[in-house]
This record gives sequence, C-alpha cells and structure tokens, in this order.
Amino acid sequence: MLRFRHRPSSLGKLTAYALLVSALLLLAGCREDMQNQPYYRPLRENDFYADKRSARPIIAGTVARGHLDADTYFYTGKVGNNDGDYLPFPVTAEVMARGQQRYNIYCAPCHSLVGDGNGMIVQRGYRHPPSYHIDRLRKAPIGYFFDVMTNGLGAMPDYAGQVSAQDRWAIAAYIRALQLSQHATEADVPAGQQIASAPPAGVTIMPAYDTQGATTAVKAASQAEAPPAKGGEQKK
Ligand code: HEC
Repeated sequence: MLRFRHRPSSLGKLTAYALLVSALLLLAGCREDMQNQPYYRPLRENDFYADKRSARPIIAGTVARGHLDADTYFYTGKVGNNDGDYLPFPVTAEVMARGQQRYNIYCAPCHSLVGDGNGMIVQRGYRHPPSYHIDRLRKAPIGYFFDVMTNGLGAMPDYAGQVSAQDRWAIAAYIRALQLSQHATEADVPAGQQIASAPPAGVTIMPAYDTQGATTAVKAASQAEAPPAKGGEQKK
C-alpha cells in the first residue's frame, strides 16, 4: 500500500518563510497615514495643470446646495430689465421690524436714522448720499432700493455680502415707511384718530404750576378748609 504524506523539505519551508517576510515588508510599504499624504499648501503653484493652479476652480455650472437662486425676482429685484415695484413676500409687522433693525445697523451710519443722508460717517467726511425724501427716490420702485443694496452705486458700496436677500427686501420695505414718515399728511391718519388740540367741552384745565410764585401756592394750601386726612386717621 502506498502511503503518501506530504512533508515539505526544509528548503521549501525556508522559501515559504522568505516569501511571507518579503510580502509583509511590501505591505508595510503600502501603508500611508492621512497626515503623511502628499498635498499642496493653499494656492501653491502646481506644474500638473496648464494654468499652474493647485487649487482647482469649481466646474462651470456648479451650484452649492441651497444656492440655486431660481427665483429671479427675489434675488435681483428686476422684472426683465426693469426694477420691480413689489415685495416678493407679504409685508408683516415682523418684516418691518427686521427691516428697521437691519437698516439701523447697515444703512443709518451713512443715511441717518431718518434717511436724510446725514449719518455719522457722512458728518465725518464721507460723501453725502441723497436724501430718501427727494422726489426721485420717493418715486423709485422698491426693486431699485434692492438693486442698489445688491450691486452698490457710485460711492455706495454693495451690501450683498453682509445682508441676505430676505433682509435686503425687509430694508427696502422699511425705507418706504421712512419715506412716508417724512411726507405724511393728516389725510394718512384714519378717521377718528385725530389728536385733539383743545380740551373737550366742560373740562377746565388748571394753569401750569408756577414754581416762581411758590409762596402763593403755600398760602392757598393753608387756607384750605379741611386738611387732608393722615394715614390711619378717621375722616371727619
Ligand atoms: C458707507 C456709507 C453708506 C452706507 C453704509 C450705505 N450707503 Fe447708501 N449711499 C451712500 C452714498 C455715498 C450714496 C451716493 C452714491 C453716489 O451717488 O455716488 C448712497 C446712495 C444710496 C441710494 C440712492 C441711490 C440714488 O439713486 O441716488 C440708496 C437707495 C442707498 N444708498 C441705499 C442704501 C441702503 C439701503 C443701505 C443699507 C443697506 C445703504 N445705502 C448703506 C453711502 C452709504
């Protein structure tokens, strides 16, 4: 009977070990930690690309998530080539309050709190902007104000980077309120809201207390018939 037993020769064993060790060494060479990866320092030159820029520009047409800006009017204030004259969302008390707050932060330093262009920076020498209360700007469509904030105009810097589109609209709405505030007439006040300029019939208004003639007042008090009741005392 033939018995076959596989017994590797000592030479075969040696070769197997040698192979294993060299394989391990090779694999160790493949290991690379992230901190040791080849990389370019920001904006370093790179010969690999024709334009030598290691920082690659974004591919044309790339849109960052949440920045599709598909609503043209909301982001430009334009209908075709013209400035639109409506707010792209309902004007609520919150929108106006937000507009006022943003206006006071970003615009008032030059345009002043009432919009006459007399802000503190202007008082210190910056170019004087036109007042919002001139006819040309009172008649300008609301989209015009949005456009000036978005793109700037002459000496006026743009605020697209600091103020979001939503807030630029809120500011535009608030500027409209400012304009009304300086041109309001009695007719803008709803009927029944007039502030009376004389007391109602039958009401006598005492003359203002005269501090210079205080002695007369003291005399008048001493002549009073019954002194005022003191705390805890029974009234007679
Ligand atoms: C650093 C000062 C400064 C700030 C801040 C500033 N503006 Fe102006 N703005 C100007 C100047 C100066 C002009 C005049 C520009 C010109 O005619 O060269 C102007 C002009 C304007 C005009 C009138 C454009 C016209 O047709 O005459 C509008 C509207 C306007 N700014 C809106 C704003 C709003 C809204 C803000 C706040 C988001 C703002 N500005 C913040 C300086 C400023």
